[in-house]
Amino acid sequence: MLLSKFVDELPIPPILKARWKDQFYTYYEVNMTEFKQSLHSELNDTTVWGYEGSYPGPTIEVESGEKVFIKWINNLPEKHLLPVDYTVHGAHLDVPEVRTVVHVHGASVEPESDGYPEAWFTKGFKQVGPYFRKQIYQYDNNMRACNLWYHDHSIGITRLNVYSGLAGFYFVREQRESLLNLPAGQYEIPLMIQDKTFNYDGSLYYPRKPENPVVELETSIVPEFFGNTILVNGKVWPFLKVEPRKYRFRLLNASNTRFYRFKLDSGQLIYQIGTDGGLMEYPIGVKEIILAPAERADVIIDFTNLEEKNIIVKNDAPAPFPDGDPANAVGIVMEFRVSLPLTSIDTSVIPSYMEPFPKIIEQSASKERYLTLNDNMDQYGREFMLLDNKPWDAPITENPKLGSTEIWYLINLTTDTHPIHLHLIDFQILDRRDFDVEKYNKERIIHYTGPALPPEPQERGGKDTVRANPRQVTRIIMKFGPYTGLYVWHCHILEHEDYEMMRPYIVIR
Ligand code: C2O
Ligand code: CU
Repeated sequence: MLLSKFVDELPIPPILKARWKDQFYTYYEVNMTEFKQSLHSELNDTTVWGYEGSYPGPTIEVESGEKVFIKWINNLPEKHLLPVDYTVHGAHLDVPEVRTVVHVHGASVEPESDGYPEAWFTKGFKQVGPYFRKQIYQYDNNMRACNLWYHDHSIGITRLNVYSGLAGFYFVREQRESLLNLPAGQYEIPLMIQDKTFNYDGSLYYPRKPENPVVELETSIVPEFFGNTILVNGKVWPFLKVEPRKYRFRLLNASNTRFYRFKLDSGQLIYQIGTDGGLMEYPIGVKEIILAPAERADVIIDFTNLEEKNIIVKNDAPAPFPDGDPANAVGIVMEFRVSLPLTSIDTSVIPSYMEPFPKIIEQSASKERYLTLNDNMDQYGREFMLLDNKPWDAPITENPKLGSTEIWYLINLTTDTHPIHLHLIDFQILDRRDFDVEKYNKERIIHYTGPALPPEPQERGGKDTVRANPRQVTRIIMKFGPYTGLYVWHCHILEHEDYEMMRPYIVIR
């Protein structure tokens, strides 16, 4: 199906309104429902799932340190919109087909409110998963200003729930940030980028099984999913009219599997000012930005003096990443039209310095963990991925002490890049280093074949998701806290996460 590009305007998700707010706390309720929404004007309305009747969900804005309570309410139908594979962990026939649990990605949250995959609940909380603890989640928001997002995290069907539409932005604000005089208000725009495929009737397409199944199952999880259209904030290939001035964009890759390498066809620089975890020390001007699933970038684009120009955001990331076919990139993302008159003089700035970002020093680490990313084969002959060769259900092995600093060596033995995400904490990337995979497989020895490469300039800030490239050891460092309890770490390719590439971890006292 061929949909025209740049015929629909970019939607901006509404800001979520509080049910209650006083000086002590803020209370929100968020309903999950099924509804129809127009995702492109040449398509019939699409049945999607969303929060508060909106896909993407409404943006949640909080102040750093604000105490927030959210009741996430499942009002979804009992039957899933998409094909469920009952053979994957946590999705067997003994649990309800439609389950939800919400995770605020990148937030520092007590374990009972973190959206543990087995803390799911159904409509009206009629049935709940074994780790369900409470109906109303508590968020302390003791984080720096940052660009987070919330999304579904139910065991075994996260890929389907997020693809159906269950994702939204969550911004943490800070007074300090407004002193920097960055583009703000209507000149600060979130961009949630996702790929989808549609059926002719406008409904969402998601594959029922892989193209070349080894064993016939009625429905089978696929090892990866790439859509043939790109949506931004829930519209296919939209355009945005802008004034000739600076804009701040909050980029989020909320796709299931697809990586992006964004470029502007004008060849102009993009000024990156922040990473997953907030502002960087100083801005960097870059020609391209790579984002794996769940990664974010905070950027400024300057449209000054570009009156009447149309600027196209392109993508040339191979799929799968990094060694797949560049022809699979779906080259176009959206268009900026510098067609609005300048309503006032642009006094916003790209600061030369933003805020200090103290490095965690290696010597402060009390433990190192060597963790492999592995390929495996299941009983049906399907490929699947593991962390440290262990399935989700194996006993917990990662048990950092509260307040301790650790270095994790992510030893990628597979042929793809995996975006590895840890809940609870932000980490820093130390380095990446090529190693001999064959030797490792035979002798379990890391034999480095190249120098340690520092993180890319775009990655020099707080991170909660890191690209662990094939044939490399990626090292990250982090301090565990301020909460103790049960969390997870996983690959954020949702098809991997749903099929064993996820592990529990526990912060102990
Ligand atoms: Cu964005 Cu554990 O997830
Ligand atoms: Cu993966």
